[in-house]
Amino acid sequence: MNPLTHVAIIMDGNGRWAAERGMPRWKGHEAGAGAVRRATRAACNHGVRELTLFAFSSENWRRPAREVHILFSLLGRYLAEERGPLIENGIRLSAFGRRDRLPRGVSRALDETEQATREGSRLHLRLALDYGARHEIVEACRSLARSVGRGAIALAQIDEDAFEGALSSGKVPAPELIIRTAGERRLSNFLLWQAAYAELYFCPRPWPDFEESDFDAAVEDYLSRTRKFGALPGVTCRREARVEAAPHAPEPIRAHEGNALL
Ligand code: FPP
Repeated sequence: MNPLTHVAIIMDGNGRWAAERGMPRWKGHEAGAGAVRRATRAACNHGVRELTLFAFSSENWRRPAREVHILFSLLGRYLAEERGPLIENGIRLSAFGRRDRLPRGVSRALDETEQATREGSRLHLRLALDYGARHEIVEACRSLARSVGRGAIALAQIDEDAFEGALSSGKVPAPELIIRTAGERRLSNFLLWQAAYAELYFCPRPWPDFEESDFDAAVEDYLSRTRKFGALPGVTCRREARVEAAPHAPEPIRAHEGNALL
């Protein structure tokens, strides 16, 4: 089996990238959208089946309104521009996190893109939007407590599977590898439940400079690690295993007129 099926990325360093160039912060976010396209391409080339990107945290609402507005405008533009290439390349896009606070236009564009790309089977690209792990954990606790309270389930039925099922991100599988850019070394409230056994990789470059070769380096590093899950002997993430058992040979990604994904 391909030992690397799900990679998650905490995209960090857009603001610093812009500041270093004497540009406004939004220029870093704009350049960051290009890096999203490169990471998607790299994930496809590695035969990864799931790519999850932390695009907007629940805490990001604390930023100046103008920056938040620009971030959502960029997301709206990305969704409009990428819908065609995503469909052509068999990439399914979906989002998780709170929908009720997203700008209406973004929410609509998301619905449309999710619907239009739902048959994509090559890669599932997930965007975490208005997402915070602690919030969803508290909500899951509330939901299970309500179920117990009204007698729908017994307390003894609450186990890890039941808990996972109650998470709003419940369908997001555990990533084997989490990459964070810009040299920061923390999870920042991202997929805390699913990250329990994730391997972490910290890339020094800021997100707008993230290249396919950085993704390659993260995969290479992951494949050299031994995963024990608390037990013995370890599972080595060997490249040979990955290549031999890849469920599908990575196809070259197809070009799309006037678009940067490809
Ligand atoms: C962190 O950089 C990045 C974000 C808060 C948002 C990520 C958004 C994008 C890459 C824009 C486009 C997204 C999509 C999905 C098309 P930061 O601003 O916290 O950087 P800093 O720590 O250097 O200030």
